[in-house]
Amino acid sequence: MKLWKGRFSKEATSSSNEFNASIPFDQRMYEEDITGSIAHAKMLGKQGIISEEESELIIKTLKEILADLDAGKIDFTVENEDIHMGIETILTERIGQTGKKLHTARSRNDQVAVDFRLVLRKETAEVDEKLAELLKTLKELAEKHQETVMPGYTHLQRAQPVTLAYHMLAYYQMFARDKERFADCQKRTNRLPLGSGALAGTTYNTDRQFLADELGFDSILPNGMDAVADRDFAIEFLSCCSICIMHLTRFCEELINWSSVEFGFIEIDDAYSTGSSIMPQKKNPDMAELIRGKSGRVYGDLMALLTVCKGLPLAYNKDLQEDKEPVFDAVDTLKASLGIFTEMISTMKVKEETMAKAAKYGYMNATDAADYLVGKGIPFRDCHEIIGNMVLYAINKGVALDDLTMEEFKSFSDAFDEDIYEAIDIVNCIKGKKSEGSTSFESVKKQLSQLASE
Ligand code: ARG
Repeated sequence: MKLWKGRFSKEATSSSNEFNASIPFDQRMYEEDITGSIAHAKMLGKQGIISEEESELIIKTLKEILADLDAGKIDFTVENEDIHMGIETILTERIGQTGKKLHTARSRNDQVAVDFRLVLRKETAEVDEKLAELLKTLKELAEKHQETVMPGYTHLQRAQPVTLAYHMLAYYQMFARDKERFADCQKRTNRLPLGSGALAGTTYNTDRQFLADELGFDSILPNGMDAVADRDFAIEFLSCCSICIMHLTRFCEELINWSSVEFGFIEIDDAYSTGSSIMPQKKNPDMAELIRGKSGRVYGDLMALLTVCKGLPLAYNKDLQEDKEPVFDAVDTLKASLGIFTEMISTMKVKEETMAKAAKYGYMNATDAADYLVGKGIPFRDCHEIIGNMVLYAINKGVALDDLTMEEFKSFSDAFDEDIYEAIDIVNCIKGKKSEGSTSFESVKKQLSQLASE
């Protein structure tokens, strides 16, 4: 029997029950629903809206229901419609008339909003923990590979030599910002909607500040209509998830490239690779590819919720029931991706020699050669052209710039001296970077030490 049956003269069909129900997916919020109800019951008792004894009985029974739910002793059906009515039904079955008083001064509209915000608070803490693990791993990799020289790319063409530590710290910064973004989103999520009623407030002498304190909310949403109608906090959360998984996909793409024979920079551990059913030699980077692929569903989840909310008149509309599945899907996907990704990079083998070798070829010291000539008083644009000509000459000859003789250097410009060889040595190219935040060994050390003090 429906809790709202009074106005109805006909039962819902089983197909309409099934279509309408959110309980298959919102039962995931049972703990938050009970936490919210306990705070509400406490407040009702304290304010004399129900008696203290009634309040205590409701709270005690809700705690028993929570224990039974934790123990898997309760099964819901679509007849229960949603988790809010599911729990209220059980409460009333257990304590009769008193159970029916819990919903005084409350609507499912403010109830679902508070549950959802509590869930997101918990999920944000879990994502934060996973991001912290990832950051720790990246920092360790950077510490270990301060001397590991590799090519830095633009347009996926060899550009300038860098260290692997520098590359890892680039990702560190991205994921550190993701962590910050989630924390910032949390500030707007952690505001209390409960007490708003259906949309216009309630006629009871409630204490919303008490509810906020009980439930650990930072503040009270000041307008009840906004509190029940908007899901911007969930959209923002999905946007944080999308940006974070986007960062993961870039890293995954690099790991996929780096683990190919063509690059040979890393080897992903067997435990995070798969074989081919037909080609015996294959070892595929499936985890990295899957994370890259799963970004599609997370972006989809963001688009889904943006679209659900688009054009909705105030205040609550049932469309909003469609808010939960995208959020659960996105956060589950992100947490799983972060977890497996961190394991994968902490176990991968870095092939330092292949990286160093790759850094030697590809004329990545050309900019430094041009800078050398600038040091001799030639304008940069002219230096650029001189070195461009030299690179072309070296390519045709099939040698590196460092392999050219002094005579050959001089034939391009009188300004060259013996010290050019030192100036364009790959390790010196890294050392020579002076700007703040550069790949120089010293700068990377500084970047690392700044992380430690964060
Ligand atoms: N299951 C609903 C949801 O997820 C709860 C709120 C229902 N409120 C209502 N007035 N029908 O949004």
